[in-house]
Amino acid sequence: MRFQPETYRAEIAAAKEYIKNHVDTTPEVGIILGTGLGKPVDAIDIAHTLSYADIPFFPVSTVESHAGRLVFGELSGKQVVAMQGRFHYYEGYPMHQLVLPVRVLYELGVRTLIVSNAAGVLNPHWRRGDIMVIDDHINLLGDNPLIGPNLDEYGPRFPDMSEPYSRTLIEWAEEIALELKINLRKGVYTAVQGPNLETRAEYRFLRAIGSDVVGMSTVPEVIVANHMGMRVLAFSVLTDECFPDALQPVSLDEIIATAAATEPHLTEMIKRIIAHI
Ligand code: HPA
Repeated sequence: MRFQPETYRAEIAAAKEYIKNHVDTTPEVGIILGTGLGKPVDAIDIAHTLSYADIPFFPVSTVESHAGRLVFGELSGKQVVAMQGRFHYYEGYPMHQLVLPVRVLYELGVRTLIVSNAAGVLNPHWRRGDIMVIDDHINLLGDNPLIGPNLDEYGPRFPDMSEPYSRTLIEWAEEIALELKINLRKGVYTAVQGPNLETRAEYRFLRAIGSDVVGMSTVPEVIVANHMGMRVLAFSVLTDECFPDALQPVSLDEIIATAAATEPHLTEMIKRIIAHI
């Protein structure tokens, strides 16, 4: 459906009102959990959960590996809200609908957003099972959540993208990784539409244009978060190796298994970063 600002504002307001009526905490940190990466939620001292299906105008995730609920509570002494289950462009949502939850999180008070995803690794020096902090991204989705009349109350028409991922938060993540003896990678995430994985020729292309990893999410949420002036930190869990000259078929099960094996490290990093905020 075409983007209609007045309708959209009313949808955001309705979602916010529903949440406010059911939840009495004020989250300052938002966490979006990627494919197979729901575990950090177990670290939250949970006050409320709301199913996406019950929140007016929230999209509902269609991917089995995503639970589809908002979890409110305390983590490392901060009030947080976690999105357990996220939305992907390949599910067929228009961009503005895909990012509606991020607008709603902002309305609830969230000013720092921590994002995770599962991604394929293109950098030949890295391996599956590694964790990468995203330093920058390339948007190959062929679409943008800010297309249409600008919502001036949230941010400018032409948002700056010189630091889409907070340098300060990246530095903290690197320091915490050292403490935990995690070999944290840092690099460029490229977002593609999917849902198919890429061909060898596409992996070669993605590497040639400067990608370290490739995935099908994150960039729409990060663009909208930046539009609103949120601080963003994002991690990719490298779930499969996309080396064109040695490419093996991958299955979603393998991707999810690798994500699960890496989760404890990711959870610990997120806990410590939030303690630092
Ligand atoms: N390509 C795109 N998205 C992905 C991949 C990949 O290899 N792995 C996990 N998400």
